[in-house]
Amino acid sequence: MTVDYDLLGRQLRGLAETDNDPLALSANFVALLNSAMPNINWLGIYVARSEDLVLGPFQGLPACVRIPFGQGVCGTAAANRQTLRVADVHEFDGHIACDPASNSELVVPLIADGRLLGVLDIDSPLHGRFTADDQAGVESLCRQFIERIDRSGTGFI
Ligand code: SME
Repeated sequence: MTVDYDLLGRQLRGLAETDNDPLALSANFVALLNSAMPNINWLGIYVARSEDLVLGPFQGLPACVRIPFGQGVCGTAAANRQTLRVADVHEFDGHIACDPASNSELVVPLIADGRLLGVLDIDSPLHGRFTADDQAGVESLCRQFIERIDRSGTGFI
């Protein structure tokens, strides 16, 4: 089953036009994506705080609260500022197993004006759940999300 990322982009724009508070839009962004992507057991944002990623809005089971840059899939994607699409997390050296149901993972860094705001992390119980099209679609949504959140204040992201 493919995901209509163009439709999600339009829905995200609609949510942002209603209110672009960074906390509220982050919460709705993860809820929107989670509702549209099949075979996902965890989906959420980790926020960059100094040299750590700290748990932000998410859908799924309670998860690890703090991940240092360079550790796990999330911390590695954050440190390298590059998307990581992992077909089998058990093959990834240092993978942090927050939810034992996870078998594959997609982590997209959230970068605004050269600053790392955090990462979007998506976990699936299926091996190899995420295709190159999923990666491109989610990266595009993340760019639209960052363009739209209000970053003028002291919001959490
Ligand atoms: N698996 C991640 C940790 C976060 S949980 O999946 C929610 C990692 O290795 O960084």
